[in-house]
Amino acid sequence: MKDMRGFEADSGKAGDEPVTRRDFFTLVGWGGFLAAMGGVGLGSFKFYVPTVLYEPPTTFKIGPPKDYGLGVDVRWKAIGQFWVVREEKGMYALVSICRHLGCTPNWFPDQERFRCPCHGSIYDTNGNVRGGPAPRTLWRAAISIDPVDGQIVVNTSVRQDPDPKSIEGIAVYVEPEGRKVEPFYISV
Ligand code: FES
Repeated sequence: MKDMRGFEADSGKAGDEPVTRRDFFTLVGWGGFLAAMGGVGLGSFKFYVPTVLYEPPTTFKIGPPKDYGLGVDVRWKAIGQFWVVREEKGMYALVSICRHLGCTPNWFPDQERFRCPCHGSIYDTNGNVRGGPAPRTLWRAAISIDPVDGQIVVNTSVRQDPDPKSIEGIAVYVEPEGRKVEPFYISV
């Protein structure tokens, strides 16, 4: 088309020019290259970021036996999810997780009972169930004395879980003497 002066008029439609096969393959080539570079970059980034699972610790050094008096010690409940129980001749650790649905019971020294606030399970200091819906006794955690520094070591990932029975007055019961075996009991 010509304008009034007889010159060819610009249609203004640059996009009307057809894309040649060469242009097309050039674009595809650049796209692939950039995608590949992105993948390499992402791989390098992941290489420098360690894939670490952050899980809470399960092993605790809790000081020497002389730091613990007779009865239930609650100082490790918040940090380690266990109570330390000291008797005349030995010690063990009870995991502070209710065996019903996993809530955290509380210790009531005046009653000498652990009581779960969720559905009312009640445990004695041996871990036996004295009431409520809990179907098994409290776990006991592995406990030992470090031979180097004499501190007590508690490992809550290793748990004693014997099959219980019912006896008169105790809903879920395991003979306490039978639970005094290594590595779930230390003599002191
Ligand atoms: S979770 Fe403890 S009684 Fe239900």
